[in-house]
Amino acid sequence: MDDFVDFINANRDRFVEELKTYLAIPSISALPEHDADVRRCAEWTADEMRRVGLQEVRLVETPGHPVVYGEWLQAPEAPTILFYGHYDVQPVDPIDLWESPPFEATVRDGEIYARGAADDKGQVFMHLKAVEAYLQRNGRLPLNMKFILEGEEEVGSAHLDGFVREHHGDLAADVVVISDSPMFDRGVPSICYGLRGLAYFQVDLRGTASDLHSGSFGGTVANPAMVLAQILSQMKDRGGRVKIPGFYDDVRPLTDAERAEFRRLPFSETRYRKELGAPKLFGESGYSTLERVWARPTFEVNGLLSGFTGEGSKTVIPAVAMAKVSMRLVPNQDPGKIADLFEAHLRKVTPRTVELELVRMHGGQPWMTQLDNPFVRAAGRAIEKGFGRRPVFTREGGSIPVVSTFQDVLGLPSVLFGVGLPDENAHAPNERLDLENFHNGVIASAYLYREIATLGRDA
Ligand code: BES
Ligand code: MN
Ligand code: MN
Repeated sequence: MDDFVDFINANRDRFVEELKTYLAIPSISALPEHDADVRRCAEWTADEMRRVGLQEVRLVETPGHPVVYGEWLQAPEAPTILFYGHYDVQPVDPIDLWESPPFEATVRDGEIYARGAADDKGQVFMHLKAVEAYLQRNGRLPLNMKFILEGEEEVGSAHLDGFVREHHGDLAADVVVISDSPMFDRGVPSICYGLRGLAYFQVDLRGTASDLHSGSFGGTVANPAMVLAQILSQMKDRGGRVKIPGFYDDVRPLTDAERAEFRRLPFSETRYRKELGAPKLFGESGYSTLERVWARPTFEVNGLLSGFTGEGSKTVIPAVAMAKVSMRLVPNQDPGKIADLFEAHLRKVTPRTVELELVRMHGGQPWMTQLDNPFVRAAGRAIEKGFGRRPVFTREGGSIPVVSTFQDVLGLPSVLFGVGLPDENAHAPNERLDLENFHNGVIASAYLYREIATLGRDA
């Protein structure tokens, strides 16, 4: 058995105890009242990077939360991995639905429950432990590594593009490695070769200067809640197709070969529907569920707010109505262009009875990579060693905005090797990470470094 595997097996329980400490820090990037916690988490991350043996570890300030940087560059003949992950987490509401407190990591049935367990602290920690094991047992890594861990991924990575551009020279590498996605299914490890992009907006409508008595004024002015509902209902047709003119112009069609690959995956629509608790699935007609979520764009309402929503009743015409909406995008859609199309369409369908304000929030480019590159094959071999099974290839519906920046600015391919499970409740109550997958993931990560090292510098 390889030395580092021995070490990883022997230290299995300690790793989990340490992970609990990491998960106890409420690094919620979306909430300003947690700013100090996010910084404390950055510092904890940096200390841990030093403990495992990374060098030149430091916090790099940005206008928002800091990026944590660390490196090990003692293998001049070998390739360099740029590892990316995030130490920030999502808010925890609705808190009542958590079975154990989100920042007191609790192990039940082989899963560790806490906010950030799967997304993404647990998976970042997995790599730090792989580095520790390798350095402890071999005295050196088989290749060079640069770690950049950000604290703003869950709020759109506003400052990371700037960071990458500014430190362009220092980030030179051969390949990016990321573990921030689920595997296909329990027992079905995977490599992800595509992510959707995102364009996110807030829509505000104002009907009148203040709320109105619905008896005295009902029927004389437009009701912004009603108008908002009418507008939103014009964004998709009954077949699930987005009605924004031009929306599909740049969509790269699914090839027959890719559709056939998707169909080969062990996926049950019935099980999927039941696990989601949905009475019936819905999506763009003519596409399967996997095709819809991985390879087709969508328009979604993320939140709605207007009028009286408390207990009982109140006869009122709300003055304002608000919606948060977003579009998931696929290659070759561009978030900026889509934002322009959405804005034009929105202005066209909004009646003159209300005032419209549109705020463009964050966005991210979709991403897709070639499967026939040596790094992906190296990752396949490493996963097989860690999980005892060859990975399947997947795309994902979620977004990691910086992945396309790594490609465009640094010219680097990314390997997305995630060990979460699709039902581990990322962004939801009772987020968790399977500890067997975590353990196998530490082993697979260490093998990944070795496999990439053997490719040499001009892979
Ligand atoms: N880890 C996810 C991205 C992800 C989700 C990849 C599912 C693959 C499958 C990441 O932390 C995330 O939540 N990203 C946000 C990005 C947004 C805030 C710009 C997302 O997808 O909503
Ligand atoms: Mn994530
Ligand atoms: Mn996330």
